[in-house]
Amino acid sequence: MKALLDILKPTSSDWPLAKAVDPERLPQHIAVIMDGNGRWAGRRNLPRAAGHKAGMNSVREIIENCARIGIEALTLYAFSVENWKRPRAEVETLWRLLRFYVERELPKLVENGIQIRTIGRTDELPANVTSCLRKAESATRQNRGLVVNIAINYGGRTEIADAVNRILENARRAGAADSLVVTEEMISAHLYGAGIPDPDLLIRTSGELRISNFLLWQLAYTEIYVTPTFWPDFGLTDLLEAILNFQKRDRRFGALNKDAVTATDEQVDELLGVSAT
Ligand code: FPP
Repeated sequence: MKALLDILKPTSSDWPLAKAVDPERLPQHIAVIMDGNGRWAGRRNLPRAAGHKAGMNSVREIIENCARIGIEALTLYAFSVENWKRPRAEVETLWRLLRFYVERELPKLVENGIQIRTIGRTDELPANVTSCLRKAESATRQNRGLVVNIAINYGGRTEIADAVNRILENARRAGAADSLVVTEEMISAHLYGAGIPDPDLLIRTSGELRISNFLLWQLAYTEIYVTPTFWPDFGLTDLLEAILNFQKRDRRFGALNKDAVTATDEQVDELLGVSAT
C-alpha cells in the first residue's frame, strides 16, 4: 500500500479509500473478467475497437495499481476459447491491440519487476501473437514483483480436460495408467498456471452475473465482486472499492467461525420435536 499512498495526494478522492484498506488483509491474487468494452464504445457511437483500445489503458492501470498496492498475482481474462466465434475482423483487432500494448509496455514491465505469464492454449494463437507473448514471458521471467497471468485462448473446461489428459499421458508413459486414480491435488498441479495460489477475489465488470468459463477449478472459494462499471472506465477507485468490499467478507471455506453456536443433541431433539433416545 505504501507505494500507492506515496503517489496519491491527500486531497484526492482515492486517498480515504486507500487509507481504509487494511494492508495486512490484501487479496493475494485478484482475477478479472474484463467486460463491457463493446458497450462502452456503443454508448459513445464509436466502433467496438475503440472500446478495446480504451480497455487496454485499464489493463495498464490495473497492473500498475496492483503492483503499488502489493497484490502478488493478477489474472486477466483477455480472450476465451469461445471468443473465436466473434467476427474475424474483431479478433484480428484484438491481436493487433495486444501486440501493440505488449511491445510498447514491455520495457516498463521489466523495469517495474512485473512477471508476465500466459494461461490457455497459446500454441493455437497466430504465430506473431505467440512470439510476442513468449518474448514478454522470457524478458520478465527473472522479475520478482507482481505476477500477471494473461488468460488467452483460455477456457476453464478446456483447462481441466487438458490437465486430466496430461495426467493420463504421464501415467501411460510410466506404465501406470491401469492403476491411475486422479486426485484433486493432481488436477491442481497440472493446470496451466500450476503453483499460483487460487484467486482470493474475482472482479467482473459491466454487471453480468456469470463466470463465463473462467478459472472454473480455481474459483471454488473465491469471493466474487461484480461492478456495473464497464471495463474501460474501471480505474483505481473501482479497484480500491473491490478490495474494501473483499475485506468485509467472512471467508470460512466451508468451516465455521470459532464463536459459532452449535446445538447439543438434546437441542436438536427439541428442534425436531422428538424425545431423546
Ligand atoms: C470484453 O468486452 C472484452 C474482451 C473480450 C477483450 C478484453 C481484452 C482486452 C481489454 C485486452 C487485454 C489485453 C491484455 C494485454 C491483457 P466485450 O467486447 O465482450 O464487451 P461487450 O460485452 O460490451 O460487447
